[in-house]
Amino acid sequence: MKVRAAVAGLRMGRNHVAALAKQANVDVVALCDLDPQLAGDQADEVVRIAGEGSVRPKAYTDYSEMLERERPDVVAIATPNRFHAAMTIEAAKGGAKAICCEKPIAVDLAEAREMVAACAQAGVRLIVNHQRRLGGDFEWIRDAVARGAIGDLYLIRATCAGDMLSDGTHLIDSSLFVAGDVDWKWAFASYHRADYETAAAAGSDAKSGGGFDKLGGWRFGHPVEDGMFAVIELTNGVRVEFLTGDLRLPGRPYHDVELIGTSGSLRRSGDKDNENLFQRSADGSWEPVPVALEPSVDKIARSYEKLLKLLADDLPDSEHPLGTPHAMRGFELLMGVYESARTRRVVTRPVEQLRYPLAVELGLE
Ligand SMILES: NC(=O)c1ccc[n+]([C@@H]2O[C@H](COP(=O)([O-])OP(=O)(O)OC[C@H]3O[C@@H](n4cnc5c(N)ncnc54)[C@H](O)[C@@H]3O)[C@@H](O)[C@H]2O)c1
Repeated sequence: MKVRAAVAGLRMGRNHVAALAKQANVDVVALCDLDPQLAGDQADEVVRIAGEGSVRPKAYTDYSEMLERERPDVVAIATPNRFHAAMTIEAAKGGAKAICCEKPIAVDLAEAREMVAACAQAGVRLIVNHQRRLGGDFEWIRDAVARGAIGDLYLIRATCAGDMLSDGTHLIDSSLFVAGDVDWKWAFASYHRADYETAAAAGSDAKSGGGFDKLGGWRFGHPVEDGMFAVIELTNGVRVEFLTGDLRLPGRPYHDVELIGTSGSLRRSGDKDNENLFQRSADGSWEPVPVALEPSVDKIARSYEKLLKLLADDLPDSEHPLGTPHAMRGFELLMGVYESARTRRVVTRPVEQLRYPLAVELGLE
């Protein structure tokens, strides 16, 4: 019998729809979005990708109704961040076997821990979509660092547009990944945010916003900062520096990660595999790294392939590159960074602040 999959939230979620529709042993049985037009359009996409005769997914605007009627085995959640926790827990309790939740896993540590606990209790595999781990440039960089191609890695300098919670989460995940997935020792950070009209914006779906254009200090149903810097020390001694939002390094693309080692530097400058990989030459300029990577690997499809294999082999999500151990290590660091910015102090593990520190600072918690 084929695995039954459902997707909720169909903007970023369309990438999950396409990735699931490509899997030979999956029927995408249901799609859900508050906008019914999106579900209809994506149902057409599923039939186009999976081929004539494939199951046409049913369209829903109500997530609970979709779960109850369809009982999907795999649920993809690509709704705004503030819905991730409740929707994941509902799917776990409703009989799903595997859940792929978009990043960030949640908006605060309390929610994230509840999600992981609910999934563990129900025997559900939970993965969080930091898809850059699944092949391409970052995999090549991780392997290059591990074989000593730049000597001893001692500094990662990562910069991106947007806010730390939704965009910086990729920087954190990629930095931990290339540095060998070790723990972090301490974080020190600072942020700034204009004095927006928070009361009117609080909780409004209209403030969810895709892309990284902030809508008056709000995005995905929660407040965000305008700019942040952070310094982190990992347990292997590697330092990581982040500059995000309006503090992004001038002239850098959406995402830019630089690795500085004792005998060389590598840089991934942009978001397209095989086109954005550079090394520092002897004269100090950046030159392309002459390696041939798969430029068009669908990382989300690869992630689902691995998730389906876990289901088939009855293995836990810790066996998946995007499973809860990596997701929670990165998310605790992310929350530690915000907590340091809120308290103006160095934060160490374990992070004790269970609420979203920026919301706490704004008096919203
Ligand atoms: N992994 C990545 O590279 C990546 C890239 C972009 C976005 N994301 C993540 O994906 C999520 C969605 O981002 P987006 O840019 O598509 O946001 P968006 O606000 O543009 O779209 C969200 C969609 O979810 C729908 N929605 C909202 N509440 C819903 C509900 N209760 N039930 C069903 N549908 C609902 C909305 O109608 C909308 O179509 C966010 O968590 C974001 O961080 C991840």
